Parts: sequence; C-alpha cells; structure tokens
Amino acid sequence: MSDAVSIRQLWSQTATVLGARHEARWICEVAVSLDGDEFDRSLDEPVTERMVAHLDAMVARYRAGEPLQYVLGRWGFRRLDLAIDRRVLIPRPESEMVADVAIGLAASVPDGRVVADLGTGSGAIGLALADELPLVGTTVWITDVSDHALAVARANLAGIGRAGRNVLVAAGSWFDALPPEVRCDVIVSNPPYVADGSPLLEASVAEWEPAGALFGGPDGLDAIRALVSGAPGHLVDGGWLVLEHGMDQGEAVRALLRQAGFVHVETRPDLASHDRCTLGRWEQP
Ligand SMILES: C[S@@+](CC[C@H](N)C(=O)[O-])C[C@H]1O[C@@H](n2cnc3c(N)ncnc32)[C@H](O)[C@@H]1O
Repeated sequence: MSDAVSIRQLWSQTATVLGARHEARWICEVAVSLDGDEFDRSLDEPVTERMVAHLDAMVARYRAGEPLQYVLGRWGFRRLDLAIDRRVLIPRPESEMVADVAIGLAASVPDGRVVADLGTGSGAIGLALADELPLVGTTVWITDVSDHALAVARANLAGIGRAGRNVLVAAGSWFDALPPEVRCDVIVSNPPYVADGSPLLEASVAEWEPAGALFGGPDGLDAIRALVSGAPGHLVDGGWLVLEHGMDQGEAVRALLRQAGFVHVETRPDLASHDRCTLGRWEQP
C-alpha cells in the first residue's frame, strides 16, 4: 500500500491545523500549483516533498499573523489574479467598486479614452480598467511614487495579456508622474487616506501593509487635497475625478471638489453602505 499523501489529505490536515477550511484550500492550491476545477479533479493525486515544504512554510507564516493574501502571494481583483507582496497594499473589495465607477465613466467616452490610476500599488485599479475597457482606443496610465510598488505593478501588467499594450507606467508623486501634455477623460485614485496615528486602523494592517500606502496626514486628506488641486490641469473638459476615501470623509471630499470648481459632485456607498467613493466632473470655466 502506498504511504503517499494525497492532495485531499493535505487539505484536510491543513484545515484541521488552521481551523479554517477555505483558507486551507487556498494555501493548498498555491502549494500544489493547481486551482479551481483542476484542484478538485486532482484531489487523489499524491503530493511531493517540495509541495509539503512550501505548504508548511505558508502555514507557519499565516499562523504567525501574516495576512493570508501576502502568504499566498496573490489575490483576486475583479477579473484579475494579482501578484501581491508586502511592497503593496492588499487590494480591497471596496476598490473593486471604485474601479467599477471609473470603468463606467471611461466606457461612455465615445472615441478613444485616456484614463489614469494614480497611486496604483499592485496595479489593481488601473489594470482592471485596461482589462475591462475596449482594447481599441484605450490608454491607461498607472503611476506610483514608490518604485517598489511599481515593480509589483509591472509584474502584474505582464500578466494581463493583450490589454497590457494599452498601459503606460510612470513613476513620481501624483501628477508629476504624468507628462505635462497628458489630458485624461477619467482620473481615479485610491490614495493613502488614514489619519496619521488613527486608533481606528486595524493592528494587522498597520503592522503588515506599507505605511506609504496608508497614511494621509493629520486628517488623512493630504493626498486627496493634492489630487483635487492637480486634477484640473490633467483632465479634458468634461473629464471625471474618482476618489476612494474613508467612510467618514465623504462630506470633506465633496467640499474639496466643489471648492476646486468640480460639478456633479456625488458620493457613492460601498457594499456595506459606507461612503467610499466621491466623484466630480471638471468643466472648463
Ligand atoms: C491605498 S494604496 C492604493 C493602492 C492601489 N491603488 C489599490 O487600490 O490597491 C495608495 C498608493 O498610493 C501610493 N502613493 C503614496 N503617496 C503617493 C504620491 N505622493 N504619489 C503617488 N503615489 C503615492 C502608495 O505608494 C500606494 O501604492
């Protein structure tokens, strides 16, 4: 009788150790390099020593408190499977909704569209835009001030197929990253928006995710102020600025947009009905 361990046994043992069946499955999928239906079809296949060693290392990291997404090294965002590590923020479901708003606005531009995702991190929002907007007539800028983040975004760009040809990567702080002549139909950003020292930030987020992706000054709005003041110089007449923000920042962000001259300013809720995304349209005075 063979004493080889099957994928099914590995999953079961991991689920027992972690007390979490879904998480155990995701870790097993990465360890055996199979997912979805292929994983299910292979449950009775034997695992190798190398797979077990990989799994043990991931289980140890997870049990030490590292977020599952970093342990797995990848995470889903809309239709994309993104490479993720500690150089970038873990993409959140709330940002999928922000991407959805930007995609809807950009898709309605009739003849070719230029969009920018400023502070792209893993590339989540910008690459989703490239992936879901028409292949023809779409240009997407993705930018970040962090070279480490851009290295992750470039790796993810390489994985999105033909839509990647529509993507331009640029380094620099907010609008400094864009060539001065670039005018966008939609600018979207999920900037750092947590107030410095906020007691509301979960301990695991503060401990594991990059500080440069989280903190936005004393009231959390420093980056949003920079984006609102710089956007008119890089939007076409009728272009849109779409901003993710904290659930208690909707009123302040609407005020900033209106003060800067944006019109049709509105805040959209996330799936938990919290204020999460505020947008405004720029019309040349
Ligand atoms: C909250 S994270 C968002 C990452 C990604 N867009 C997402 O939704 O998962 C904010 C990102 O803004 C970047 N960032 C911070 N300050 C910046 C600046 N001055 N200019 C451009 N990007 C900046 C950070 O490096 C980080 O990648």
